Amino acid sequence: MKKEKIFHQPVLLKETIDYLNPKPKENFIDATFGFGGHGKAILEKNWPKGKLLGIEIDPAVYNIFLKDILKDFSEQEKKRLILVNDSYSRIKEIVQKNQFYPVNGILFDLGVCSYHFDSALRGFSYQGDEILDMRFNPSQGLTAFEIINYWPLKDIERIIREYGEERYSQRIAKAIVEARKKEKIKTTGQLVEILKRTLPRNYEHHRIHFATRTFQSLRIAVNDELNNFSQALKDSFEILAEGGRIVVITFHSLEDRIVKNFFKEKVKNNEGVMLTKKPIIPTEEEIQKNPRSHSAKLRAIKKGVVFS
Ligand SMILES: C[S@@+](CC[C@H](N)C(=O)[O-])C[C@H]1O[C@@H](n2cnc3c(N)ncnc32)[C@H](O)[C@@H]1O
Repeated sequence: MKKEKIFHQPVLLKETIDYLNPKPKENFIDATFGFGGHGKAILEKNWPKGKLLGIEIDPAVYNIFLKDILKDFSEQEKKRLILVNDSYSRIKEIVQKNQFYPVNGILFDLGVCSYHFDSALRGFSYQGDEILDMRFNPSQGLTAFEIINYWPLKDIERIIREYGEERYSQRIAKAIVEARKKEKIKTTGQLVEILKRTLPRNYEHHRIHFATRTFQSLRIAVNDELNNFSQALKDSFEILAEGGRIVVITFHSLEDRIVKNFFKEKVKNNEGVMLTKKPIIPTEEEIQKNPRSHSAKLRAIKKGVVFS
């Protein structure tokens, strides 16, 4: 089989490094390590003594990194990198197990890598015809197939409405339940067909593909993304050293709202200082080069009391 080149461009890279502001000797956690684009940039800044703890949930991504990408890291960088194949929902336990103290900064670059859409073949993309899975960790939990084929109509409707912010959630849920009476809905292609015949032709005036919101909602539900992330954000703030920073890059409004509200609360309680008054977004130039960055928003906070 021909080996595919992994295409990966870290989003808002310069801005992330500016806000994390890594210094020699400081320790950082990259809670969504992926192919290590941001991680490498952190290691280039916090040398010679600073360490990086990378957390990546997807065993396929983790192994591709070890096999094909780690070789681009210098020996010096490799020595300072600790990598775990686990979920950021266990960030506290991971930090404790690795005795990774103090934590001077934590990065979340949420969601999926291009790899998930282009090569994972687990149903993240509505472009091909893949199995309806959508799990980041294929050895754990619920699949999109189970939701689509076995959940009651009202629960399917609820996730599409809440996690997809989809105004046609009722119509879609009804169409799914009707279709599955005839045959099991096994692939993304079948699901896209159902959506196509159910949704208006000029869906959202073609601003987004008609399957975007439904696919987003399924992925969030399958991986319990919003609950896991909310909890991980709270845990991250707890384990962060005074003066430490959290930087989060989100790709849709549900995630961004969680970050905005959490950071606001910390500032209100005088526990932190907001570093980004407004979310930072990619430049036109970055969007041109990497269209998947178009919905990215970065927010950052620094832990600690303000003395005036
Ligand atoms: C946008 S990519 C990160 C890309 C990375 N910053 C880079 O430069 O290569 C998000 C990554 O987070 C991973 N991920 C998603 N949920 C996770 C979780 N609960 N715990 C750890 N990693 C997670 C995904 O598998 C994906 O590889």
